[in-house]
Amino acid sequence: MAGKQHEHHHDEPTRFYLFGGKGGVGKTTLAAANALRLAATGQRTLLVSTDPAHSVSDLLETRLTAEPTAAGDNLWAMEIDPEADAKAYVEGIREDAEAAVSKAVLPALDRHLKLAVQAPGTAESALFDRFTRIMTWCPDHYDQVVFDTAPSGHTLRLLTLPSMLGAWVEGLQQQRAKVNKLQGMWRTMAGVSEPDREDRVLARLRQRAERFAESRKRLHAESVFHPVLQAERLPIEETARVIEQLRDTQIPVGALYVNRLWPADEASAFVTERVAQQNEYLAEIRERFSDFALVEVAQSARDIVGREQLNALAERLATTPA
Ligand SMILES: Nc1ncnc2c1ncn2[C@@H]1O[C@H](COP(=O)(O)OP(=O)(O)OP(=O)(O)O)[C@@H](O)[C@H]1O
Ligand SMILES: [Mg+2]
Repeated sequence: MAGKQHEHHHDEPTRFYLFGGKGGVGKTTLAAANALRLAATGQRTLLVSTDPAHSVSDLLETRLTAEPTAAGDNLWAMEIDPEADAKAYVEGIREDAEAAVSKAVLPALDRHLKLAVQAPGTAESALFDRFTRIMTWCPDHYDQVVFDTAPSGHTLRLLTLPSMLGAWVEGLQQQRAKVNKLQGMWRTMAGVSEPDREDRVLARLRQRAERFAESRKRLHAESVFHPVLQAERLPIEETARVIEQLRDTQIPVGALYVNRLWPADEASAFVTERVAQQNEYLAEIRERFSDFALVEVAQSARDIVGREQLNALAERLATTPA
């Protein structure tokens, strides 16, 4: 990649590596491999996976949890369960919110909450909350963090989230300020004074908003997003879209990883080996799904585009014993 400006869009050292792309293109595999590579250079590296299939545990042959676990020299890894995180996150927000406001503003708060929770997707909010926390561990505890992120659409929404949450908390604060003024007047008149638990919660929300804003800055200044794709039609278009969207989110785009290229110079040995592995899996499929008929569809040498090739495939399907 010499001569390309990848990873040099900013002056700060790159601390956060994000891998994104369509399902199954190799994000987890490449994120893990890059984490190994960084750790081997002596940098304290944390690999963060959100893959629900526990594939990083399998890859590293280390049982991972939602907390960082040592996985080699200079290497730590953690596996986040987005669903469990999302549940805890919404619960936390609700508790904060209920404590933060008096009954009078609850309906307004509910509207805010619904917006904040629904608009970008709960799982994404929770994930971003988690990401921002992890980012604060760097550079004190880790030199670099490699994120094996969710497929690109979700990831992008997640990366643009801070501004939304910032706005949300700001709105909440303004409302609180108004309510405080009124309550203060009322308390003065009634001679009541109580230390405000609500304001402690609000302070926590403000903290969160600040953390989000900080992460947003660091995503811009210390991060690089590596699109992962395959040399096929759909991933190409998807990647073009992602790069376009990333321009808006101000996250530098690094090298594109074009994964799963056939090694042209050793094609026949490669095919032999591939077919051998495929036959093992095919045997497993036949056995495990023996209750069902299988339609085995050979891969065409070229992408299936247009009526003619589709017809050819339809004919092949018609002659497949099912
Ligand atoms: N260069 C490669 N050579 C061979 N197999 C690969 C390569 N890259 C990825 N794979 C295989 O492809 C499959 C999908 O890879 P991986 O799990 O990394 O993709 P992903 O983008 O993380 O998928 P998901 O979107 O489901 O999280 C895995 O079985 C992996 O071992
Ligand atoms: Mg994955």
